[in-house]
Amino acid sequence: MHINSLGGFSADDFRPTEYRPGLDMDLLLKRVHTQGLAVLSGFPADPEELLAFGRRLGTPSRKPAYGGAANSPKDGDAFGYIGDVRLMTDIEAGRRRPTQDRAEVRMHTARSFAVNRPRYFVLLMADPGRRTERGQSGESVYTSIDHACAALHRRFPDTAAEDLEVLASTPVPWTLPHAPENAARTPVLQSTSPRTFRYWQGIADDIPAEAADSRLAAALTRLDQVINDPAVQAELVAEAGDLVLLDNDRVAHGRRPFPAFMDDAGTVPSTRQVYSVHVFAPGQETAE
Ligand SMILES: [Fe+2]
Repeated sequence: MHINSLGGFSADDFRPTEYRPGLDMDLLLKRVHTQGLAVLSGFPADPEELLAFGRRLGTPSRKPAYGGAANSPKDGDAFGYIGDVRLMTDIEAGRRRPTQDRAEVRMHTARSFAVNRPRYFVLLMADPGRRTERGQSGESVYTSIDHACAALHRRFPDTAAEDLEVLASTPVPWTLPHAPENAARTPVLQSTSPRTFRYWQGIADDIPAEAADSRLAAALTRLDQVINDPAVQAELVAEAGDLVLLDNDRVAHGRRPFPAFMDDAGTVPSTRQVYSVHVFAPGQETAE
């Protein structure tokens, strides 16, 4: 793994542990609970192995069925749990979800609309694909809510304290067109210790026109600016076999765009591929 920038993290936070089947999971989870994330290297690009790893962390979450038989794996298929994040050339460009395309994915936490959100999110780089220039090669980006709050205080010193108070006390009141019907209405922030949050791509764009003047809208807009500021993000170039285990309540993730390439035969789609799994911690309510 190569680190392009650290944001608020330290280089030690990304120091990888070599994966082996007898890995000390307690030690790994201690790192996650302290730093918000932990990194492994040398993990096999095998969905079954990733699912087995998820089961050592807790209860892996089944993938929601996003419509279509092709997305409804049979019982016993690891892809019922493992996300397959790559450019889906078999889906029409206009109908792809952000993670099925090659555009930038802005900061978000996993399953941010669910009432019970899986505590852990695991991303495994199966194939980094071909790279071009920095910032255009599908680099992974991470930021923690603590780093984002510190940046909010630096950037907006007059409003930060009140913004955080509003964000922690105001349920997201509007209906989101792209969220499920039973979407959580809880505030974006929780002032627990450590502080936790849920977040989604385009959060500031989801504010309806009639709420544009609200205190919550102003606070969300400022937080969104900070969270998506590259200066606040760690940017990593993952190698095949690099695995990142996140505390999904404290660290948001995203990725830079990645290009298609032209050769003599025409456009060559990138082979970049990430496997992911969402895992409920032991004792967590697993109904989403
Ligand atoms: Fe994601």
